[in-house]
Amino acid sequence: MSLNIVVMAAGKGTRMKSSLPKVLHKLAGRALLQHVLGSTAALAADARIVITGHGADQVEAAVGGEGLRFVRQEPQLGTGHAIQQTVPALTAGGSTLILSGDTPLISTATTRALVDACGGERLVLLTIEYADPTGYGRIVRDAAGEQVLAIVEHKDASDAQRALRECYTGVMAAPTEALKRWVGQLDNNNAQGEYYLTDIVAMAVAEGVPVVAVKTADETEVLGVNSPSQLAHLERRFQLAQAESLMTAGVRLADPARFDLRGTLHCGKDVEIDVNCVFEGAVTLGDGVRIGANCVIRNATIGANARIHEFTHIDGETAGASVGEGALIGPFARLRPGAKLGAEVHIGNFVEVKNSTLAKGAKANHLAYLGDATVGERVNYGAGSITANYDGANKHRTTIGADVHVGSNCVLVAPVTLGDGATIGGGSTITKDVEPGGLAVARGRQTVISGWSRPKKVK
Ligand code: UD1
Ligand code: MG
Repeated sequence: MSLNIVVMAAGKGTRMKSSLPKVLHKLAGRALLQHVLGSTAALAADARIVITGHGADQVEAAVGGEGLRFVRQEPQLGTGHAIQQTVPALTAGGSTLILSGDTPLISTATTRALVDACGGERLVLLTIEYADPTGYGRIVRDAAGEQVLAIVEHKDASDAQRALRECYTGVMAAPTEALKRWVGQLDNNNAQGEYYLTDIVAMAVAEGVPVVAVKTADETEVLGVNSPSQLAHLERRFQLAQAESLMTAGVRLADPARFDLRGTLHCGKDVEIDVNCVFEGAVTLGDGVRIGANCVIRNATIGANARIHEFTHIDGETAGASVGEGALIGPFARLRPGAKLGAEVHIGNFVEVKNSTLAKGAKANHLAYLGDATVGERVNYGAGSITANYDGANKHRTTIGADVHVGSNCVLVAPVTLGDGATIGGGSTITKDVEPGGLAVARGRQTVISGWSRPKKVK
């Protein structure tokens, strides 16, 4: 049986008070609309349609290229009017699932259950009981409280109807052919002068089409975003849920309320994460990894038993970054794309590493820069030393062999190679290759003048 998935995303989102269309605001690092599309990605659909209007160009550019069809709604005259625009695009027969682009956390299981319950024959509404139902469309049932008769919008509801707590969530599954017929019959004689999609419920009842209300107990999956406050509160709920599932898997979070994951986090056994850490993109933490407070880690892999001390920033961007087993990183370290650190590497405070490979046991403990470098095993890279990898036009590599000792405050002007076991005197500017086992000193010789008398202040 055919299935259409329709996501309504044409509304203005006035209460966001933003120039960005509402459905492009981010929750856990992804646009609200991306969440909705993601949760229905596992459903086999014949057509996936997004209704755009307000900020349509921006919305279509942001989520395009994923087998979606966009239908424009101009002007936006209500949810029923929105669905009217999709009628020519709907695959005939079967069912049509309708979702809102501003209700991001709907679960795959729920959407599948609605489609199954619809079966191309029944009108299925996702509903929820709210303690405070103000603003929502109410589910009106018969005197016995069983058969659904209609949805009445809050602004059109009587006092008795406003006392009802069962509300429409904005998600439904409808028999496609009947849906097309019903939306063609809508009018806008109501408190808001809009074409309400919810008016099709009474039409279904009048035609004797079965109407089924599926109640969800999970408020989080049906909460919509209308304002910055609602967005922030939903973000916290989502983060807390992610934190709980990590803790269930054995991850020890110092405080689940101070944890943010904007992507995916895979953790081994006995992982500990202190407060205020942010994980983005795809991050993997091996067994026994400990992350100190206030770290930001994006697109990176951290090996078993490595320690990431406080205030460390790791961003692999698209190239990725990796930290070897038992490595010690930070506090205040910065690892950039292409940083590949071997086992037991030490990177200390105010050390930046970019596009560089450090072999097992290499150390750069203080105030240093390694860019476009290949660093051998057990190298000791002194405080204040840098690779001068950029000549103003091109980047060049620095190769440092195993067991090299680079003193403090050196400049290694790339391209340059330091052979295995070489020693570089502190304060040197190295512009030529150094042979294995050699000592290179490249700085002004010290001069001492005995009994030097300093200038005196003229009175
Ligand atoms: C709608 C329901 C209400 C339900 C509530 C749940 C109607 C008439 N009412 O009300 O019963 O309780 O959702 O949150 O459907 N949109 C368009 N084009 C339009 C108008 C809206 O695409 O012309 C989109 C919006 O971008 C949004 C969705 O439809 O994603 C819902 O619109 P909104 O105005 O928020 O509906 P509510 O008034 O909240
Ligand atoms: Mg509205």
